[in-house]
Amino acid sequence: MLPYGKVALAPHRHVPLWFRHHVAIGDSAMASVVSVISQKGGAGKTTVAQCLAIEALRQGMAAAIIDADPQKSASDWGSQREQAGIDAPAVISLGTRSLRTVVKELQDRGASLIVIDTPPHSAPAINAALEVSTGAAMVTRPNPMDIRALEATWAIVDRMKKPSATIFTQTPPGNRAKALSLALGRLKELGIPHCPTPLTYTLSYPYAQAEALAIQEREPTSKARAEVAEVWAWLRRKAIV
Ligand SMILES: Nc1ncnc2c1ncn2[C@@H]1O[C@H](COP(=O)(O)OP(=O)(O)OP(=O)(O)O)[C@@H](O)[C@H]1O
Ligand SMILES: [Mg+2]
Repeated sequence: MLPYGKVALAPHRHVPLWFRHHVAIGDSAMASVVSVISQKGGAGKTTVAQCLAIEALRQGMAAAIIDADPQKSASDWGSQREQAGIDAPAVISLGTRSLRTVVKELQDRGASLIVIDTPPHSAPAINAALEVSTGAAMVTRPNPMDIRALEATWAIVDRMKKPSATIFTQTPPGNRAKALSLALGRLKELGIPHCPTPLTYTLSYPYAQAEALAIQEREPTSKARAEVAEVWAWLRRKAIV
């Protein structure tokens, strides 16, 4: 079993205050809620949501994921972890409940970081997630079609006036990263903020997911793991997580 016992959420909804303080680092009433969004399918939302939740756990924060995507990719991963005896993060499938209700429930259980994994192609779902969020991470691959979709996402996010930035994922490694400089140029023109560390393309991500893990757990000394740590630290500094 992975050693998350201390930062796993309280199992029941109504828990005594002393227990909440024991399991949660920080004030449970003030959880950070971060939406992970992109209009494009397959950009890497679920992967980033998993990585952020796992990084939070490893930093001693009680983390949870709300899966607001009917595809249920994050929930399936969570169920597989549960079956493997891994006790965190809690992954809650939203189903027909309201995000506000589920956020409140997770806060009551001691969550200090709640990550919302959102579906693609749905401005209403992005709006609903942003309404209950304290920050947003927009996920994009460095290609023209993703960046065009990002423009539409940014139009929504910018209106909400919450701490937010783009995270580049599936970025080509090494000297083929011209795609990244082209994408960065476009973001600059559009005034869209971005995290300076991109997540490089590596099959380690799907391999980790196949084992119901995140990259930090499967490959704790890898370059990819170091990139995730940098992204996490930058998002913390910007109050996005
Ligand atoms: N940095 C990366 N390098 C290589 N593969 C990646 C990387 N990030 C994500 N992937 C892979 O890309 C695929 C799509 O990722 P993911 O499911 O996270 O995207 P998504 O935006 O959540 O998709 P959807 O829109 O369908 O919800 C997955 O197989 C995942 O393992
Ligand atoms: Mg997804």
